[in-house]
Amino acid sequence: MAHIAGMFGWTEFLGHLTSGGTQANLEALWVAGQLAPGRRIVGSEQAHYTHQRISSVLKLEYTSIAADRRGRMDMEALESELRKGDVSTVVSRWAPPPSARWTRSTRLSRCAGATASAST
Ligand SMILES: Cc1ncc(COP(=O)(O)O)c(C=O)c1O
Repeated sequence: MAHIAGMFGWTEFLGHLTSGGTQANLEALWVAGQLAPGRRIVGSEQAHYTHQRISSVLKLEYTSIAADRRGRMDMEALESELRKGDVSTVVSRWAPPPSARWTRSTRLSRCAGATASAST
């Protein structure tokens, strides 16, 4: 984990490797539910389908956020959901195009009151 964190320049990090994406999503959403019971998860409609399905299994409310033709999450729609004040976690898909990736992650980091849960 330290080596991976170092690739991003992170000095503070928490995580572990899993055998696959579904398990990683299960663990991330389980943690989200434990840290903030009763609060919603929101994610791009481009997020992997397992986020919504696992949220349902864990009895966590999940709201899907629209994406544009290039697969970018609609930031106005996201902000509107965050302003409701009951969101704990944002699932974002950090996938190409690279130019959109950094714009999106920068804007996501500005969204107050929510944890960014990253997936590939
Ligand atoms: C974001 C994400 N979550 C979950 C999965 C499912 O992964 P796995 O088949 O390893 O469980 C994938 C697979 O591509 C993925 O990209």
